[in-house]
Amino acid sequence: MPWQRKDLLGLEELTAEEIELVLRTAEVFADVFERPLKKFPTLRGRTVVNLFYEPSTRTRTSFELAGKWLSADVINISSSSSSAAKGESLADTARTLEALGADAVVIRHSAAGAPHLLARTVKIPVLNAGDGAHEHPSQGLLDLFTIRQHKGKIAGLTVTIVGDLLHSRVARSDIWGLTKLGARVRVTGPATLVPPTFASLGVEVYRDLRPAVEGADVVIVLRLQRERQAGGLIPSLEEYAALFGLDAEKMSWLKPDALVMHPGPANLGVEITEEAALDPRSAIRDQVRNGVAVRMALLYLLVGGGEKDVPAVA
Ligand code: CP
Repeated sequence: MPWQRKDLLGLEELTAEEIELVLRTAEVFADVFERPLKKFPTLRGRTVVNLFYEPSTRTRTSFELAGKWLSADVINISSSSSSAAKGESLADTARTLEALGADAVVIRHSAAGAPHLLARTVKIPVLNAGDGAHEHPSQGLLDLFTIRQHKGKIAGLTVTIVGDLLHSRVARSDIWGLTKLGARVRVTGPATLVPPTFASLGVEVYRDLRPAVEGADVVIVLRLQRERQAGGLIPSLEEYAALFGLDAEKMSWLKPDALVMHPGPANLGVEITEEAALDPRSAIRDQVRNGVAVRMALLYLLVGGGEKDVPAVA
């Protein structure tokens, strides 16, 4: 099945087959860090614009590396360096970039639905790099890729997501992807950050951490999104850390072969201690590195034109 969508807006709308296609394509790029020559000629002559209206280290850098290692020209624009600072609308910015010859736009925005607006405005592919608390599909895909890399499968695994699900676009993309590929998903955190309505997404809601992580094959710890909280949703950071922060003692509740993941950036000492983040069971570094292979696969499929064999290194 070739890739047929113009845009990547979320994992909610992707089929399991489309997710599998991205993961299969990413396998081809998975050893890119080991290659002495990292460049593929696939997107030579194409231009990818990274339009980031919110801060980012991992997503912006890995989309930039992905574009460059596929030989595209990559342009980075932030809200402060674009005419958005002078009142230009998002749609007008997108039309301007299209008129200037961009072949794809990667967008991060604080407003849920901003990539969808762009996708309706321009004919070129739009890739959602995180929209408000809605979705972060490339993170969801790299999380699936990392789990399969370590566990050999997704179907049948028990995956627990811990923390601030209410504000987490990563959690929503992970839940869509994991459930579509046949994993059993548990979620846990304070009731104010994990409302019972999450059960409607096909996950099991736990109120306490210990039963939620015991027996889990994978534990995904989320960042406590202090910048998105109106305040008052947790009594204090110390109490949150005591009840839900992953530390050495709570790590002992996990299976010996459980995988620990965090999308980053982490509030070390709040949702996870440095010791737990560096534990041999942690796959956080692999998540970061796999982000490049997955984003190369996405650019290849959306901008490079489908499921053809990936060409040799230039
Ligand atoms: N996981 C993630 O989106 O990280 P950045 O904000 O650094 O891109």
